[in-house]
Amino acid sequence: MLAAVNSLIITGIEARPVKVEVDIQNGLPAFEIVGLASTAIKEARERVRSAIKNSGFKFPGRRIIVNLAPADLKKEGSHLDLPIALGILKASEQINNDIPSDYYWAGELSLDGNLRRVPGIMAMALELAYSQQDKVLVIPEENEKEAGLVPEIRSFYATHLRQVVACIEGEETLSPVNPTQIKSNPEKKYDFAEVKGQETAKRALLIAAAGMHNVLLIGPPGGGKTMLARRLPGILPPMQREEILETTRIYSVANLLTPKNPIITERPFRAPHKNASSSSIIGGGRIPKPGEISLAQNGVLFLDELPEFSRDVLEAMRQPLEDRMVTVARAHSTHIFPANFMLICSMNPCPCGNFGSDLECRCSPLQIQRYLSRISGPLLDRIDLHIEVPRVKYEQLSEKRSGESSASLQEKVAAAREIQRKRFSSLQIKLNSQMGPAEVKKYCQLDEKSEQLFKTAFNKLNLNARSHDRILKVARTIADLEGSKSIQIHHLSEAIQYRSLDRKYWGHNI
Ligand SMILES: Nc1ncnc2c1ncn2[C@@H]1O[C@H](COP(=O)(O)OP(=O)(O)O)[C@@H](O)[C@H]1O
Ligand SMILES: [Mg+2]
Ligand SMILES: [Zn+2]
Repeated sequence: MLAAVNSLIITGIEARPVKVEVDIQNGLPAFEIVGLASTAIKEARERVRSAIKNSGFKFPGRRIIVNLAPADLKKEGSHLDLPIALGILKASEQINNDIPSDYYWAGELSLDGNLRRVPGIMAMALELAYSQQDKVLVIPEENEKEAGLVPEIRSFYATHLRQVVACIEGEETLSPVNPTQIKSNPEKKYDFAEVKGQETAKRALLIAAAGMHNVLLIGPPGGGKTMLARRLPGILPPMQREEILETTRIYSVANLLTPKNPIITERPFRAPHKNASSSSIIGGGRIPKPGEISLAQNGVLFLDELPEFSRDVLEAMRQPLEDRMVTVARAHSTHIFPANFMLICSMNPCPCGNFGSDLECRCSPLQIQRYLSRISGPLLDRIDLHIEVPRVKYEQLSEKRSGESSASLQEKVAAAREIQRKRFSSLQIKLNSQMGPAEVKKYCQLDEKSEQLFKTAFNKLNLNARSHDRILKVARTIADLEGSKSIQIHHLSEAIQYRSLDRKYWGHNI
């Protein structure tokens, strides 16, 4: 007998409907699954077989063929366990009622028949929510919070295979998923008040947070670069509903949601290791998965010791920094992952770390040049604020008075972002850093004196078209922090200053 059960599969951050077709024929006992990525087949077979037996049903001793349609793309995912098991029970007439054709099932089975959490539920719920007909999604209880983020779709949860079968037979009813209450949970662990001195760096991070600009911190070891970077998420505004949904969806397909963190309400802070592979940072794999740049969505990506990252990684960062998304191409498909993050990088100016500081540098000019040249000009151009972080003096460290608190900085960020929100309310963008050429032209006008200053600096600092617009966007943010309608000359000159380190460290030839 033949049975068909609906489910979905994940490709990238999207879900696509699939049909699980089960055919049971007379013949030698066999259990074949067609259309699933090969590594997953063996495990799925074992789980489904045990779960069926241990739930009080019989595993048919005949020839079972499971086909996952459409066959054109390799499917992956333990969530197909539940629909496969239902198909086998229906095809072997252990389920009498029809399995409703508007129901979609997803869940991993444990050997004893319990339903376990699976990745990608939010993408599945969204896919069904936007389809034409009314559809119903059935998921493991452990995924309830995530499914509840998409109240537009009717969904139910269950805990055991036996319970699901009883519901199909009309003996029990499934529990409806409750809409999830969203409360942003701002990061409070690290406070800028603990950072002594470093006023220039703090000011630059305030500007970066206000307009979502990228930052590079340069200085000797021990100056507090890592300390400063770690405090950046704490001055960003709490995540909004839309941001929570976007980010949670990515963590869901990456299988990074946990019972303790079933949805992402805190701005991400991702700090991948310098030896991380390009595919783990940018995204990729045989069946493409989001990388660190996507996991930092709506939050912060911190690349500590930037020159130590592989050339591949550094060069591959350029496109997503420009487009705020990343395209991963495969032979038969192309996946787009969002990558809207704030980049903060830190680096020593030379291998020993002392070049340009008050301590003696032990590196040869060639060593220094080699070290710095790992950061290419095009990458540097995409980082809006370059900041020197010198070692703090003893007197500063022993200073009793604490610096400006994260709470106070966060208020300033919020005020500047409110101005930006109003400015861009009729557009697709929210923040100054997201302006395209047309918006820069409209909102970053300079008076004559500023124009003259910019021209001089442009030639003196050997700037190019890319840095030109980025400087104007930073100047716009500085003006917004001051509540100024127009960009004034001191806003512009401060913005230019944050791009003048190229010359000190990299010279003219990058
Ligand atoms: N400005 C500062 N104020 C207070 N403590 C600091 C400061 N700079 C450095 N420190 C202390 O030194 C430690 C090392 O700083 P770190 O951020 O790792 O420096 P870097 O990343 O520049 O090498 C910090 O954890 C902190 O305890
Ligand atoms: Mg450090
Ligand atoms: Zn050195």
